[in-house]
Amino acid sequence: MKPINVGLLGLGTVGGGTLTVLRRNAEEITRRAGREIRVTMAAVRNLEKAKAIAGDLTLTTNANDVVNNPDIDIVVELIGGYSPAKELVLKAIANGKHVVTANKALLAVHGTEIFKAAQEKGVMVAFEAAVAGGIPIIKALREGLTANRIEWIAGIINGTTNFILTEMRDKGLAFDTVLAEAQRLGYAEADPTFDIEGVDAAHKLTIMAAIGFGIPMQFDKAYTEGISKLTKEDIAYAEELGYRIKLLGITKRTDKGIELRVHPTLIPAKRLIANVEGVMNAVLVKGDAVGATMYYGRGAGAEPTASAVVADLVDVTRMHTADPEHRVPHLAFQPDQLSDVPVLSIDEVRTAYYLRLKAFDKPGVLADVTRILADLDISIDAMIQKEPAEGEELVDVIILTHQAVEKAINQAIAKIEGLSSISGKITKIRMEELSA
Ligand code: NDP
Ligand code: HSE
Repeated sequence: MKPINVGLLGLGTVGGGTLTVLRRNAEEITRRAGREIRVTMAAVRNLEKAKAIAGDLTLTTNANDVVNNPDIDIVVELIGGYSPAKELVLKAIANGKHVVTANKALLAVHGTEIFKAAQEKGVMVAFEAAVAGGIPIIKALREGLTANRIEWIAGIINGTTNFILTEMRDKGLAFDTVLAEAQRLGYAEADPTFDIEGVDAAHKLTIMAAIGFGIPMQFDKAYTEGISKLTKEDIAYAEELGYRIKLLGITKRTDKGIELRVHPTLIPAKRLIANVEGVMNAVLVKGDAVGATMYYGRGAGAEPTASAVVADLVDVTRMHTADPEHRVPHLAFQPDQLSDVPVLSIDEVRTAYYLRLKAFDKPGVLADVTRILADLDISIDAMIQKEPAEGEELVDVIILTHQAVEKAINQAIAKIEGLSSISGKITKIRMEELSA
């Protein structure tokens, strides 16, 4: 059978990795796909830089040369960002080409429009590499778990921040030093604030929620909080209490709607996921039939991500000639069967909390604090008062609560901060048991 022709948009970390893996494993990949997958053309900005790895590829600085090339069957978008990636993907689809992309930002924000265009044109848009790098989580959620009513998904889905948290804790390195290393290793986004502030994780979570629950992509409703405000004290106190702090993406089905949130989270240290370190990612999925399942692997980097891109290329090659009506739907559910169940605001989320306050070391302070919590129906799981440092009037008080509604916790925090015996702002970090 004649080869299937692929055009790459971008030859950076992931594009370069894709080329390397396709070349190195060409024979096995052809045996699996049923025909050769041949990259014929690539678009970049800097031709000189690309020549080192391009080999016999035709290079261009005009990405339209790729999406308009009649000999190309599959366009692989590895440029990143919203524009011109969106216009190029839509042009490729309009030209009848299948698309493979690792671009979670693009799909989380413009996915509805892109999948609709692909559906109308009868082409595939594959995106395994967009979530959790090399872990085949899209395939697992969309196909492997298709019998289940998904109850919740929780994951460490940003390699850069997990790498930063691990290196800071284990080696005592400074935040900026570790971030620079993550950038050197090709883990970070072009704009690393997307990693640090939880935006990248929220993009990935939005995609998983859509596939898990059969809802439209609603990135604008995701609650997003990153790791930039985490302090060494909280990381250490969490450890003392038997917890690890991880940047988690959590999406949960509740009676009131869907929770969709990314934030630093205390997890019991004994959980497997609490021990996922460095650039590794892990996603826990709870289905009603299967129970909890966990998927683990490298969440970023050239070849791990290329592994997912090439898997999509093989899938598309195999399904190329299949009737579009009989392909697996892009987002697992039939496009006319999406649910309008609402995404809940963070105020309505119910979880447990770690609170750290600075209190003057005098009688009655803790009684005032516990009264405020009790009045708002917030029950305390544990409370610890640390020894004051030499000559220091203020002490750290750590409170772990049972589950409560975020709105009530915020009201309690405002009242406690108003007490004359409390100094400064209270630190609030959400906690999840993640029990199976
Ligand atoms: P890089 O910055 O390493 O590579 C981007 C590539 O796109 C470069 O070759 C660049 O060319 C090219 N490019 C940028 N703009 C244009 C343009 N207008 N026309 C033609 N070429 C262009 O990014 P990554 O490989 O890291 O990321 C690519 C995508 O994969 C992103 O969506 C990212 O979120 C996603 N991703 C990345 C992972 C990772 O570990 N890095 C993991 C999972 C997903 P030049 O170098 O000449 O400027
Ligand atoms: N910047 C992303 C991360 C790349 O660190 O996880 C993989 O999506």
